Amino acid sequence: MTAPAPIRVFEPDADALATVEGTVAVLVGPDGEMGMLAKRANKLTRGAVERATGAESWKKADEGEVVALSWPTGMGADRLLVVKLDRKSDADLARKTGVAIARSAGSGNLTLCLGRLKHAREAMLGALLRRYDYTDQKSKADGEKAGEITAMVAKPDEVETSDLAALAEGVFFCRDLVNAPANVLTTTTYAERLQALSEHGLEVEVLEEDRLRELGMGALLAVGQGSESPSKVVVMKWMGGGDEAPLALVGKGVVFDTGGISLKPGAGMEDMTMDMGGSAVVAGVMKTLAMRNAKANVVGLVGLVENMPSGRAYRPGDVVTSMKGDTIEVINTDAEGRLVLADVMWYAQETFQPSGMIDLATLTGAVIIGLGHHNAGLLSNDDGFVDDILKAAGTEGEGAWRLPLGKDYADQLKSRIADVKNVGGRPAGTITAAEFLHRFVKEGTRWCHIDIAGVASTSFDSPYAPKGASGWGVRALDRFIRDTCEG
Ligand code: BES
Ligand code: MN
Ligand code: ZN
Repeated sequence: MTAPAPIRVFEPDADALATVEGTVAVLVGPDGEMGMLAKRANKLTRGAVERATGAESWKKADEGEVVALSWPTGMGADRLLVVKLDRKSDADLARKTGVAIARSAGSGNLTLCLGRLKHAREAMLGALLRRYDYTDQKSKADGEKAGEITAMVAKPDEVETSDLAALAEGVFFCRDLVNAPANVLTTTTYAERLQALSEHGLEVEVLEEDRLRELGMGALLAVGQGSESPSKVVVMKWMGGGDEAPLALVGKGVVFDTGGISLKPGAGMEDMTMDMGGSAVVAGVMKTLAMRNAKANVVGLVGLVENMPSGRAYRPGDVVTSMKGDTIEVINTDAEGRLVLADVMWYAQETFQPSGMIDLATLTGAVIIGLGHHNAGLLSNDDGFVDDILKAAGTEGEGAWRLPLGKDYADQLKSRIADVKNVGGRPAGTITAAEFLHRFVKEGTRWCHIDIAGVASTSFDSPYAPKGASGWGVRALDRFIRDTCEG
C-alpha cells in the first residue's frame, strides 16, 4: 500500500527557511518578482536566486518550470527549487507546477513556499499526487525514506488538508490496484481489499458465484468460467446524503485479460494486469467519499473476473444469456469487458434505481487509436449529464472527450442467431462497444460510459503520476459528485 505523504500547512516563517532539510521550493514571478520567502532564500544564499532568474535559460523557461540548485550555501536544504510562477496563475497551472516541483524534488521532506499564491491548494495537490512510487513488489526499499510535504501559505485556514489527504488516498488506492500484478491481485484478494474499505465507513458486500448464478448473470460468469479464480461482484455503498436515489458507479474489473480462447498476442500481454482499471477508479472514488465524509449517496459496483483460456473457457460462437434476459452471441472472447459490465449495470439499476449511472472500463484498444493516452472517451445518452462530467474532468485537469452514439453503430451488433453479438467489427470499435452497453441501460436512466483504456496506465509519466497507473478519473468523479450531488 502506498500512503500519501503527510501534508501540513502553516503561515510563512522566514526564519525557519535557513534550517529546513530536504527540498525547498520558492516562487518567482515571470517578471522576477519575489515574495517574502523567495527574498529570504535569496538572501540566505547570497543572491543565488537572483542569479538563477537573471540567466538566459530562465527567460526562456515557461511558467511552471523549475530551476534546481543543489546544496545551496547558507541553507540546510539539499535542494533549492526556483519556480517560475505568477501568483495569480490559474488552478491548472498551479497544480501542474506542484507536479513539476515534486518531480524535481528528492524524496525527503518537501517545503513549498507558496506565500500569497492564489491557487496554493492546487499546487499542494499536484505535489501530493506526483509523490507516488509503487514499491509493493520490490524486495528492498531503495533511496531515502519518503518525507512530509509542508506548505507555507499566507492564509493557512483556506486550505482544507483533510480533503486533500482524502483525495490522495483515493487516487493512490486506485493506482496501487492498477499497478498490482495479476498473481497478487486475484479476484479473491481484490475483493478482500475492497472489503477492508468498510473500516472507513463504507458498506461493502461481496456477491459470490452461486449468488451471481441465481441472479442470472450468464454474461459475466461466462467470462470468468475459464479461470481458477472465482468471479465476484463487489458492491460498495456510501449513503452520506439524504433520501435521494444514489448515483451508481460501475467498473470493469478484469484482473487479467489474456483474451481467452481468442488469445491475445504475447507481446505486451503483461499490460493486461491493468484491465481492472475501471473498477479501481470506482474503488478510489468510494474511498475518497468515505474519507471526506461526502454528503452524497453513491453506490460503487465492480465485476471482478479473470479472462483465461482453458478447457472450461467460453468460446467464440457460444450464446450466453445476460441477467437482463438478452441473449448474446460471443464472436470474440476478447471482447469480455462489455459482457461483465452488461450484467453489473443491469444489477445496479434493478437493485438501486440510481438517478444516474457512470461506468468506467479499459474497454477498447480503439479508444487509444482515436484519442491516444491524453483523453478518455465518454459516450452518453444525456447531454446535461455528460456535460457535467466533462466540466468536472476539465476542472481537475483530466483529459476527457465525448464520442457519439447512434443507431447505425448499434446495427453493427446485429446477430443472426441471438439478440446481439459482442463485437461490431473494426470500424468505430469504441462506439459499438458503448452501443452494446447502451442495450443494458434502462429507459430513463441517465448514463455515461467512460473508456479509460488509453489513460488508466501509461508507459510514460502522465500529468500527475509517474509511469504506470495514473489514477485518472478519481478526481474528476469526486469533483462531479461534489458539484452535482452535494448541497
Ligand atoms: N482490455 C481490452 C482493451 C484494452 C486494450 C485495454 C489495450 C487497454 C489497452 C479489451 O478487453 C479488449 O480486448 N478489447 C478488444 C475488443 C475487440 C475484440 C472487439 C480490442 O479492443 O481489441
Ligand atoms: Mn479483452
Ligand atoms: Zn479487457
